[in-house]
Amino acid sequence: MKVLVIMGSPRKEGTGSRAVKAIESRLATHGPVQLEVLRLKDANLGQCRGCFQCISRGEELCPMRKEIVAVEEMIEAADGVILVSPGYVQNVSGLMKNFMDRIAYTNHRPRFFGKKVMIVANGGSGLAKTLDALRIAIGGPEVVSELEYTQLPWPMQERSIVKRRADLEKAVDKFYKALQVKDMRPSFNNYMRFLFLKGASVEAKEWLPADHEFYRDLDRYYYDVDVGMGMRIKASLLMPVAKFFMRGMAPQRDGADGSDR
Ligand SMILES: Cc1cc2nc3c(=O)[nH]c(=O)nc-3n(C[C@H](O)[C@H](O)[C@H](O)COP(=O)(O)O)c2cc1C
Repeated sequence: MKVLVIMGSPRKEGTGSRAVKAIESRLATHGPVQLEVLRLKDANLGQCRGCFQCISRGEELCPMRKEIVAVEEMIEAADGVILVSPGYVQNVSGLMKNFMDRIAYTNHRPRFFGKKVMIVANGGSGLAKTLDALRIAIGGPEVVSELEYTQLPWPMQERSIVKRRADLEKAVDKFYKALQVKDMRPSFNNYMRFLFLKGASVEAKEWLPADHEFYRDLDRYYYDVDVGMGMRIKASLLMPVAKFFMRGMAPQRDGADGSDR
């Protein structure tokens, strides 16, 4: 079993690193798991320039494609990914955010299906918001486990340390269990997301041609899978409601200039 750890802290020996060591030890109690650590600080991803080419016309057109391809290959070679970020101003660190920006096209055209993701936020307060951000870092794989790893800037009480250890063990056990499951059926949320993005790719064909190309020949889901009758019925009932609430997002069709003014 191979797990890639993507670290968003600029500090080599910080709290995030200690959390990863504890995660590694707990994983080892279940079976052999090989951890590979990618420190974003050393990955030289470069700062996203905001050209939007990856999202609109395809990631091959990113002017800094090479470095992110190397990360894609590392994710592809792993069974699972652990994303670790310190909480910075109740969000992810700048390094982690830049990684999310550099791989943002996977939120339009998901991949890495079947991989399992664990997200870890470390710091003092506001870690739930850091986890909210991490949850959508990579489009495609399922987030199966989440952990708030608390480290206060002063000596912590014994009972807080005991709780932190118990939370970590629970989250790691959940992650390990999910790594064993080979069921490729999507969650309902992911299925709804697929239907929504496929619909949007038709509406926004002119502006997001890469999405249009990607979704054009996809029928049931991103890959061949039986999503089940129940899920299809539930989605067909909910989709018109979702579309109603998002109707203001549709492109202006009467030729009026809707650009920035
Ligand atoms: C720029 C910056 C912003 C931070 N913002 C917060 C914050 O909003 N809430 C908090 O509890 N800790 C905050 N911290 C503290 C870090 O989250 C905390 O020290 C973390 O455990 C560091 O992780 P690391 O050692 O893995 O880098 C911040 C630290 C920095 C450097």
